Amino acid sequence: MTIREVLKMGDPRLLHPARPVETFATEALRNLVRDMTDTMRHMDGAGLAAPQIGVDLQVVIFALDQNPRYPDADEIPLTVLINPVLTPLDDVMEEGWEGCLSLPGLRGLVPRHLKLRYQGFDAEGGAIDRTVEGFHARVVQHETDHLKGVLYPMRMKDLSKLGFTEVLFPEMSGTS
Ligand code: NI
Repeated sequence: MTIREVLKMGDPRLLHPARPVETFATEALRNLVRDMTDTMRHMDGAGLAAPQIGVDLQVVIFALDQNPRYPDADEIPLTVLINPVLTPLDDVMEEGWEGCLSLPGLRGLVPRHLKLRYQGFDAEGGAIDRTVEGFHARVVQHETDHLKGVLYPMRMKDLSKLGFTEVLFPEMSGTS
């Protein structure tokens, strides 16, 4: 079990586009995914992107199972998504609250595509192709943005909707 340090907003490594993975089914890639999973679970995150632990590769993970940070969201199976390609299915956008392990203690209201298809690969090179909506689609867009060097406040339309979790959602005290 290896908990890696998560970089915080202001670190220039969070603003770089990440490189695609070229070789799958390697020990190095499996170890990266293992460290990311341990780190995400340890911090009660719904997702984590490799650049957040200082690794310049197009690797994201996400999962949601009764997460105290997102008590009302549907469950999402633990997914390792590498070299992702997102295709919105229509122009419908929805606003929703997001947090990020790189902005601890904050939440912001962010517009995202409601429905999309995502494609990519798992760590063994197996193809992934899913069509999702709602919070699942939101998480994929948030994590994939990290691979472009984009943090969620950069997607917000109204920065008055950025605030501290403990103030916005006092009932969620104890989570970040
Ligand atoms: Ni994030």
